Amino acid sequence: MRRFFLEVYGCQMNRHEAGIVRRILSSAGYSETNDENEAEVLLMLTCSVRDHAEQRALGRLGDFRGLKERSPGRVVAVLGCVSQNLKSELSSDHGADLVIGPDGYRRLPEMLTSVLLSQPKTQDPKPKVGSPVFSLDQSAECYDGIMPVPESPACGSVTVMRGCDNYCSYCIVPYVRGRERSKPAEQVTMEARALLEQGVKEVTLLGQNVLAYRSNGTDFAGLLERVAALPGIARVRFLTSHPKDVTERFLKMIADTPNVCPALHLPLQSGSDRILGLMNRRYTRTEYLERVELARKLIPGLGLTTDIIVGFPGETDEDYAATLELVRTIGYHYAYMFRYSVRPGTASAQLGPAVPVAVAQERLERLIALQNDITRAHHRSFVGRRVELMVEAPAPRGGTMARTSDGTVVIVPGPVPVGTIRDFMVTSISGWTPVAGPAN
Ligand code: 5AD
Ligand code: SF4
Repeated sequence: MRRFFLEVYGCQMNRHEAGIVRRILSSAGYSETNDENEAEVLLMLTCSVRDHAEQRALGRLGDFRGLKERSPGRVVAVLGCVSQNLKSELSSDHGADLVIGPDGYRRLPEMLTSVLLSQPKTQDPKPKVGSPVFSLDQSAECYDGIMPVPESPACGSVTVMRGCDNYCSYCIVPYVRGRERSKPAEQVTMEARALLEQGVKEVTLLGQNVLAYRSNGTDFAGLLERVAALPGIARVRFLTSHPKDVTERFLKMIADTPNVCPALHLPLQSGSDRILGLMNRRYTRTEYLERVELARKLIPGLGLTTDIIVGFPGETDEDYAATLELVRTIGYHYAYMFRYSVRPGTASAQLGPAVPVAVAQERLERLIALQNDITRAHHRSFVGRRVELMVEAPAPRGGTMARTSDGTVVIVPGPVPVGTIRDFMVTSISGWTPVAGPAN
């Protein structure tokens, strides 16, 4: 049996697609190893959303190439968004044997077989030219019919739509993941049901913008309703929602369906109307704030999280101050914060003037410090409260990692079986994470 080693970078969509790659390879007779030294096939599932992620993948690709040089006959394959973005450059300049974009995984076994057969078994003094490169047609692929290997015994995910048609000016996603397409509702419920049969308790519905979901007259609120009604489903989550597409009907659906978690990831990106315009986000700060207020009114205890970019081309001190001010006003439970990274080929790559790196870095650090204070206060507000937790996994530094329905991570000291759902009492904070014990 051939062994593969898979390293995964990037977003939840990539982690989900890693499950699809695992299923495809195990169905083709491969087994997974956690030791890269003993794998015949070295795979990397990459992310292109920022330059840093791409550089990390290229660095690791160098390590993989080193392993291959020491013991020839192995195959190095690059999957995911960097494949789509850098294409044949990955084989010509970085030594990849196989380059497969996000829509090409069904052909992985066939491609691997042909590359494995063509590998020299001894050190080849001549560099290889013209390695097979595949992938780059962007199809309507949604991997219907392939059940991903779940990431954890308690939590699984189902992709409901793929691709993006929004063309935010900074974002590479529409170029590497192609046009929006939705998975039929019957397929989504079938996959969710299969996860539940395997013992999964929580299902996350995934899409670049789940609110763009459309299939045979079903919108995302309708899909959510169908999934939440499946027998045995304790929690339903979803990611990501574009603020411009948030409707009252959707918010009411969350509010009225007890097992849909009251958690919304609503990327803000900037608090300045001028920058939001340049980003092509299609909402103003006032519209964003109105939606947040409506969501909080309709969904008590809403867990609100966001993404923010600082240092977008032309961002002035005033633009940045508007972001800080909105972050302070809204009080997100958590935020993913980034320094702008130019992605060649996107619309904003043409924009100027660039914000100097040192200025952008300083803005990022101040924003992070502000958000950390807000997150810490949110965590402290749990102390002394009884909360329902679902146990997700053993915690990396001992104890057990669990989550409230609003998405907050809580540590329970000692072992608790994964998948347990019950009330706990939050007793203290450790570092900045709430810690809970038994509730009487
Ligand atoms: N530079 C920095 N951050 C980016 N993101 C997307 N593209 C870029 C970029 N070019 C961020 C956005 C998005 C998140 C997934 O990554 O905040 O919501
Ligand atoms: Fe990128 Fe915008 Fe699509 Fe999100 S909605 S993936 S930020 S283009």
